[in-house]
Amino acid sequence: MLVTIYTLVVRILLTGLCARAVPTPKDVLHNAQVFLEKYGYIDRDKKESNLGELEASISHFQWLSHLPVSGELDTRTLLQMNEPRCGMKDVSQPRWTEQHSAISNQRRRKRYALKNKWYKRHLTYQIVNWPWYLSQHQVRQAVKAAFELWGNVSSMTFSESSSAAADIRLAFFYGDHNDGATNAFDGPGGALAHAFFPRRGEAHFDNAEHWSLNGRGRNLFVVLAHEIGHTLGLQHSPFKNALMSPYYKKLGKDYLLNFDDILAIQNLYGAPPSGKLFQLPGKKFAYFLDWNSENGKGSESDTTKESPSYCRSVFDAITWDMQNILYIFKGRHFWTVTPSGNVSEPHLLQSRWKKLPVYIEAAAVSASTGKFYFFKGAKCWRYKESQLEAGFPRKCSSKGFPRHPDTAFYFHPLGHLVVFKRTKYYVINENSLTVEPYYPRSLKDWKGIPLETTGVLTHPDGSIYFFKGEKYWMFNQDKLRVTASGKWAEDLSWIGCKNN
Ligand SMILES: *[C@@H]1O[C@H](CO)[C@@H](O)[C@H](O)[C@H]1NC(C)=O
Ligand SMILES: *[C@@H]1O[C@H](CO)[C@@H](O)[C@H](O)[C@H]1NC(C)=O
Ligand SMILES: [Zn+2]
Ligand SMILES: [Zn+2]
Repeated sequence: MLVTIYTLVVRILLTGLCARAVPTPKDVLHNAQVFLEKYGYIDRDKKESNLGELEASISHFQWLSHLPVSGELDTRTLLQMNEPRCGMKDVSQPRWTEQHSAISNQRRRKRYALKNKWYKRHLTYQIVNWPWYLSQHQVRQAVKAAFELWGNVSSMTFSESSSAAADIRLAFFYGDHNDGATNAFDGPGGALAHAFFPRRGEAHFDNAEHWSLNGRGRNLFVVLAHEIGHTLGLQHSPFKNALMSPYYKKLGKDYLLNFDDILAIQNLYGAPPSGKLFQLPGKKFAYFLDWNSENGKGSESDTTKESPSYCRSVFDAITWDMQNILYIFKGRHFWTVTPSGNVSEPHLLQSRWKKLPVYIEAAAVSASTGKFYFFKGAKCWRYKESQLEAGFPRKCSSKGFPRHPDTAFYFHPLGHLVVFKRTKYYVINENSLTVEPYYPRSLKDWKGIPLETTGVLTHPDGSIYFFKGEKYWMFNQDKLRVTASGKWAEDLSWIGCKNN
């Protein structure tokens, strides 16, 4: 029995709701039907647009989602359908089937449901692989804590094993990974993960998702804990605050497990031998990474000679200043690398540029003025040295700048700043802070550059480097196309990731 978690089938709906292209009522209806069918509210065989049936299924969805029951596709209902969630059916899921079969005395099914547990108290697990941008140590800590969460409220105990014979295997996959076409992962934002009930012992995570243990991106810890719940035999909970609720759970001051989660696990495996439950507030787990590097400095496998943490991550922005000092921005921190390759400690953004927000989306240094530009959302900041200039931050989007730019840099041949956003790029006049005439233009002018890069800069030798994920692309200004690419952390020595 397979559980697909957090499938945003309704991505289409989401873009429809908040983007320029206004969806037609027909689209909305169609997308809602797709959603209701996927999650079991509409019987596939009977879906032949029967309006009465549709209304009944909308009502059913509203009732299970704790919404006012109107039978209509009102805004709240459509928004609820857009929530990241588990892809498992809500209606014909085993919990209901089980109750149903108890009533109708279908013994075969009931016996089958009873088998969905482990018949031992100690389980081993193996972490098969993990995202390249997270360190093994941190992933192990997170997995350990996610198992501990369940172990601390039940009689189960867990330990890591390096062997493939472990009871439970956790693995990250891209796309189709040989457990059926319907389980193929679909890139960022779609299905995030799925797991199998006992005793198959598998949980799979979409490698294309941006997993995070430090507050940005998809919180890996919560999804681990939810999936592990499934591997132990837990089904979805109808309670909104349960970890096993089909909806993605935010970490707050509440405990991660609510009473329904605890009843469910104890129902299968009983209470801890001590009789005592141990729980921590959810928010404790939101900043795993910081928590770890602050508490665990120099401890265990995080030994001193490890390369700086931006090397194994997706950074927010990168730029070179007039002294050829390289700056790498990531979350609340930045690092500098000198021309001789000396990498600094991480510094807080605000320690150098007061009044910057907690993180930025793009940064560039103007080669004509030496000033630092930062972009985030609709706003931009401009600093001379560490001094925020008068009139900043300002709402640059009102002058035609793209909101949430991907990247920015100073382009020498034009003598201007260039800002990239998805399929377009904008040339900026620094004096008036306006977009130059005839821009934005198509990204196609930059032959070979992928969409949504995370960084771009001009190397002192004149070539332009674009960054995205673990890769870089070198754009040759004479040939006007990409002439080299590779993995930046490994291939570009000036980026400071190779200890020598
Ligand atoms: C589990 O309980 C122990 C104390 O018994 C505690 O130190 C640990 O942090 C708990 N783990 C989680 C994930 O709550
Ligand atoms: C790198 O920085 C350290 C400490 O600031 C300094 O002692 C060392 O000489 C520097 N190395 C180079 C090659 O600049
Ligand atoms: Zn689930
Ligand atoms: Zn799978």
